[in-house]
Amino acid sequence: MKPIQVGLLGIGTVGSGVFHVLARNQQEIRRRAGRGIEIATVADLNVERAREIVGSDIQVVADARAVIADPAIDIVVELIGGYGIAKQLVLEAIAAGKHVVTANKALLAVHGTEIFAAAQAKGVIVAFEAAVAGGIPIIKALREGLTANRIQWIAGIINGTTNFILSEMRSKGLDFDVVLKEAQRLGYAEADPTFDIEGVDAAHKATIMSAIAFGIPVQFDKAYVEGITKLSAQDIRYAEQLGYRIKLLGITKRVDKGVELRVHPSLVPSKRLIANVEGAMNAVVVQADAVGTTLYYGKGAGSEPTASAVIADLVDITRLATADPEHRVPHLAFQHDALSDLQVLPM
Ligand code: NDP
Ligand code: HSE
Repeated sequence: MKPIQVGLLGIGTVGSGVFHVLARNQQEIRRRAGRGIEIATVADLNVERAREIVGSDIQVVADARAVIADPAIDIVVELIGGYGIAKQLVLEAIAAGKHVVTANKALLAVHGTEIFAAAQAKGVIVAFEAAVAGGIPIIKALREGLTANRIQWIAGIINGTTNFILSEMRSKGLDFDVVLKEAQRLGYAEADPTFDIEGVDAAHKATIMSAIAFGIPVQFDKAYVEGITKLSAQDIRYAEQLGYRIKLLGITKRVDKGVELRVHPSLVPSKRLIANVEGAMNAVVVQADAVGTTLYYGKGAGSEPTASAVIADLVDITRLATADPEHRVPHLAFQHDALSDLQVLPM
């Protein structure tokens, strides 16, 4: 069968990882998907840099809309980021009948309801494994592995940049600004790192998890969000002396009258597993009624870990796209029509 054709929008940190991992592991990926997965066209503002990455066999264009308009493209991968042009392109891709893969948690946490309604109406899939916790398959775990459970709460370190900053400040005594620059150099930070250090990125991810776990629409606007910018080296030292580590946690919890959704620095006893999650690693703990507690750990940011999740979505869509659309369960999307009337509570 002809390989499925992918149009890649944005070939920066994550996009280049997708290109390299797909090229390196193409035989295994083809076997697992049941069909080849081929990047046909790449769109990036910096055409020269994109060409240096992909070489001359792949078409490179500056205009992302040309990729969406191309009838040969089956799946559009949005790796530009932000709520602006990325939103327009994702909606245009859906309207053009393309399946979409995105790592853009900001977009989904704020506009997910509109995007998934559009995808459902058009009968296409929007997949987003890379949007939460980088390379950790937490979306799959919540939607599939834990599908028999009533989830009670989820808590985790879901921002690599801030965990890297807190770890380096504690273990090496480095300054906040120095470590933030290093996180940017390593490709962990968002284009606007304020989203990382002010807790907004973690709140985007917690919002997406709460929607999946509790069957509610995304309610990012109701999240309590506090980042790490008010913490000093002294706070980190005092916490350590008292037997704690400071971690920026994203928490969402089912309570009597609704759902809690919050991100803030937390004191975690040093002996707890999650206190020992260091650097850009992420860890998510899920408490559910049947299975009890489960823990998911891995690289939460960076080029190839995130590419791993993007490609997992490409493989899923390739398998599903070959199935009869009438009988396709839209299991990769969270419900835009709420499964429950639970509301996120003011905090
Ligand atoms: P980068 O900034 O490294 O890459 C984005 C790329 O998109 C750049 O090459 C940029 O070009 C290009 N671009 C910008 N506007 C357009 C446009 N209109 N048309 C085509 N290309 C465009 O970002 P990342 O790769 O780090 O992140 C991509 C997405 O993945 C974001 O949503 C991010 O939140 C998410 N993500 C990132 C992770 C990470 O570890 N980095 C992990 C998980 C998710 P130029 O540089 O010239 O502006
Ligand atoms: N900026 C994000 C982080 C990238 O540091 O976790 C991964 O989503």
